[in-house]
Amino acid sequence: MKAMEDQVVQEELGYQDDEESLFQDIDLLQKHGINVADIKKLKSVGICTVKGIQMTTRRALCNVKGLSEAKVDKIKEAANKLIEPGFLTAFEYSEKRKMVFHITTGSQEFDKLLGGGIESMAITEAFGEFRTGKTQLAHTLCVTAQLPGADRYTGGKIIFIDTENTFRPDRLRDIADRFNVDHDAVLDNVLYARAYTSEHQMELLDYVAAKFHEEAGIFKLLIIDSIMALFRVDFSGRGELAERQQKLAQMLSRLQKISEEYNVAVFVSNQMTADPGATMTFQADPKKPIGGHILAHASTTRISLRKGRGELRIAKIYDSPEMPENEATFAITAGGIGDAKE
Ligand SMILES: Nc1ncnc2c1ncn2[C@@H]1O[C@H](COP(=O)(O)OP(=O)(O)O)[C@@H](O)[C@H]1O
Ligand SMILES: [Mg+2]
Repeated sequence: MKAMEDQVVQEELGYQDDEESLFQDIDLLQKHGINVADIKKLKSVGICTVKGIQMTTRRALCNVKGLSEAKVDKIKEAANKLIEPGFLTAFEYSEKRKMVFHITTGSQEFDKLLGGGIESMAITEAFGEFRTGKTQLAHTLCVTAQLPGADRYTGGKIIFIDTENTFRPDRLRDIADRFNVDHDAVLDNVLYARAYTSEHQMELLDYVAAKFHEEAGIFKLLIIDSIMALFRVDFSGRGELAERQQKLAQMLSRLQKISEEYNVAVFVSNQMTADPGATMTFQADPKKPIGGHILAHASTTRISLRKGRGELRIAKIYDSPEMPENEATFAITAGGIGDAKE
């Protein structure tokens, strides 16, 4: 969307250099003696940027079909020639953080809670019971992510991975009406995929990375609604928990990398389950999000959602590196997530 406009805006703001170094194509490795066939192998597993190589372990690279250890060493070496592998000064890091943007939830109160909305270069997880608004929030973000917003945010495209078959394009039309934007344009900017197994969900991320690379700087948001549903089905036995958590950790690490590599926001929803230990610890809320410590640590910001009266819902910051543990009330309306009227 608006590729030209985006570029102009970025140039005006002097973002071009940063963005460019962020999206260095792995084709550049050719200049450092890596052949096209090997580059193609990397791309086939979704590694499309030099940064992506840096973010992948040698061991994982050796698992790519056709890449020997010797080749992997050469690739790593070449990548390190293109980007410094080491430290940034705090100043440089703060310059990099300037590219971080926020996507509005549709509710000002909710945005305030989050410090402006759903953040890029991070994973935001919303968990809550059935009908607490997770999917409605995901739909709303599909529209708001396309609109220019605060801090010179230009808007962009979205990828939506649906694991529960609850994505409804008609909802996007209703939400588009609220923001006075064209239906077809809104729908055109959302790439949708249904995932059928946890493995398929993982494979789709290769496609996501390739797409984000192909249209660098155009995609702003990746949604997975919900992150755990298929893992729950695929690893249902008691003895399978360890394997589930290992696979989950791989997926989350992949998501984290994608969010940083392409400067996109990653939004995932999550379910809850009864906590058998709760009665022992006198917890007020005897339910907890699934995914265990692996998901708890991977999510940059965790939001818990619960029901209020009627269409009202309450969001609470559960865990965030910079926001206090506050609450906000919002409403689910025909036009998506909004503020509670009073
Ligand atoms: N078109 C709509 N207008 C107003 N509210 C809606 C609309 N569609 C769904 N909702 C409300 O959204 C809630 C379901 O939220 P949802 O995001 O699907 O929950 P979750 O994904 O957390 O299970 C329901 O309470 C429903 O009334
Ligand atoms: Mg849902």
